[in-house]
Amino acid sequence: MSIPVIELRHISKKFVNKTILKDINLSIMEGDSITIIGPGGCGKSLLMKIIAHIVPHDTGELLFYGKDVKKINKKELEEFYLTIGMLFQNYALFDSLSVRDNVGFYLDYHTKIPHENISKKVTNNLRRVSLNNIEHLFPAELSGGMKKRVGIARAINHDPKILLLDEPTAGLDPITTDSISKLIRHIHEEMSVTMVSATNDMNCAKKIGKKLAMLYEGEIYAIDTPDNMFSSSDPLIHQFMYGKRQGPIQYHEKISGIQDDSK
Ligand SMILES: Nc1ncnc2c1ncn2[C@@H]1O[C@H](COP(=O)(O)OP(=O)(O)OP(=O)(O)O)[C@@H](O)[C@H]1O
Ligand SMILES: [Mg+2]
Repeated sequence: MSIPVIELRHISKKFVNKTILKDINLSIMEGDSITIIGPGGCGKSLLMKIIAHIVPHDTGELLFYGKDVKKINKKELEEFYLTIGMLFQNYALFDSLSVRDNVGFYLDYHTKIPHENISKKVTNNLRRVSLNNIEHLFPAELSGGMKKRVGIARAINHDPKILLLDEPTAGLDPITTDSISKLIRHIHEEMSVTMVSATNDMNCAKKIGKKLAMLYEGEIYAIDTPDNMFSSSDPLIHQFMYGKRQGPIQYHEKISGIQDDSK
């Protein structure tokens, strides 16, 4: 029987005295494409950073092929990091580096591959995300959609086995959103990577996630195919999937006491 590439067991995380993640259990199998959904601020980005082990969890276990990431040796930890490519919600491009150096960053700093070979790889990966001749530009010279694409090119440039994409389409126009969703699906199939994404965009979630995992109140409340999630009779899932104001999820106006006149 195959073991999960990544498994989260009873993961929790709090900041000061605010618990964000309470008890996360999630198995990510090779070739999976899981999209994390859930109300804004519920901890999707935090969960992605915990999976990448760039934010350490408080309790529970993060297992990489069955081994506890907190207990593996330095070499194994380096292998773990090399396995992961990540697109951050806010791009996290280095402002002072050109597109070439942003995309090539990991290979430039963590391998001995010659500079020219890395440059060729950067150009190829930029082409893959439909960007040509922009290696010399700086992040400030790019549009939001271009930054996302550069972020994706950077995430895939070291041929990771696991791709983590946080809000790959947030803030983009509908056509760019559609083309980036298709591109991500294509990358998933072409590179046969294991993919975990987080999004507030249900159209994107439908297109890129083979399974949707709904994060709610610090736990994975449900995980299922997009079709099953959209047809779920569970009031909480139904409310969220269709963006309804009425239902068990307390939205801001209810919390702040603002009258909802739309009912
Ligand atoms: N480094 C940190 N220090 C303190 N609090 C943090 C930190 N990172 C995240 N949080 C808190 O954790 C909560 C979840 O944040 P997170 O960004 O993961 O939410 P999200 O579900 O990704 O939201 P969105 O849908 O808006 O992207 C927020 O209350 C946030 O303030
Ligand atoms: Mg987020």
